[in-house]
Amino acid sequence: MISTHGTASAKIILFGEHAVVYGQPAIAIPIQDVRTSAAVSIDASISAPIIEAKDLKVETALDAATYPEAIVPIIKAIELVHQKIVKLPKTGWRLTVWSKIPIGRGLGSSAATSIAIIRALTRAMMKFLSPKDLIKYSFEIEKLHHGTPSGIDNTVISLEKPILFRKDHEPAAIQSGSMFFVVGDTGVTKKTGDIVAQVAEAKAKDPDQYDHIFSQIGTIARQGSLALKDGDVKKIGKLMNENHILLQRIQVSSSELENLIDVAKTKGALGAKLCGAGKGGCMVAVAKDGTAAGIIASELIKAGAARSFTTKLK
Ligand code: PMV
Repeated sequence: MISTHGTASAKIILFGEHAVVYGQPAIAIPIQDVRTSAAVSIDASISAPIIEAKDLKVETALDAATYPEAIVPIIKAIELVHQKIVKLPKTGWRLTVWSKIPIGRGLGSSAATSIAIIRALTRAMMKFLSPKDLIKYSFEIEKLHHGTPSGIDNTVISLEKPILFRKDHEPAAIQSGSMFFVVGDTGVTKKTGDIVAQVAEAKAKDPDQYDHIFSQIGTIARQGSLALKDGDVKKIGKLMNENHILLQRIQVSSSELENLIDVAKTKGALGAKLCGAGKGGCMVAVAKDGTAAGIIASELIKAGAARSFTTKLK
């Protein structure tokens, strides 16, 4: 084993959340400058491996009888590496994890944590993993945390490229034109698995209506992938607005999201929608240029966003 590290980016879903769970296409993009990091350091004096989650201020020995709840996702990722990828030594190393991705806000923190850890540990063991393997193993961890995830989060974060994603299909990388997005965080934490379950329950009561909405969302995602390739920012804005109306209809928006979306649009966004599971978490807006994006980001903070940032595609 050698000392090394791995990182993974945040992500946002531009089009198609929820519908993607039912086989429709969706588009996700990485946010490369917001990342989770994991570092492996070798220390011969350590008996059982030490696991440290820096932001959570939690440290534990890997052979402890029980773990603090907050560190369980880290332990699960280590176990997966040990059981399915490469046997890890029983002594002499420490894994430290830290992150700029807020937890439970639809920015992919759980997938990024798994992927940063898989990258760090496999590199430490000098074991090469293909992108396909990384997607496969990180998906196994996502399933432990979220029940029935579509796989979009761990796929976009593994590839770190804009993708058109469809369950059980090869993801297609999108060569996008240049575009500025603004993300606003409501500060409200949500559990993706719970919201996906609520949507499933509502769909069971009214399957035709939900299937119709999901297929409309799928059409928007397909059109969105063409507009991204063309760098057609106005079309992207229009499609985001349309996608958001459909997300309202499946009842995954919230007053906090609506407030930030309204502010973004009033302050110049060409379109905006919630992103991720909804009922909290984040919204995303598209801006005509970097200056407009900066103005929208600061207006979101004034309107009560817990945080906001801009991200440039390409
Ligand atoms: O984890 P989030 O909040 O980005 O939501 C993922 C998107 C969903 O479509 C709601 C769920 C899924 O597994 O695709």
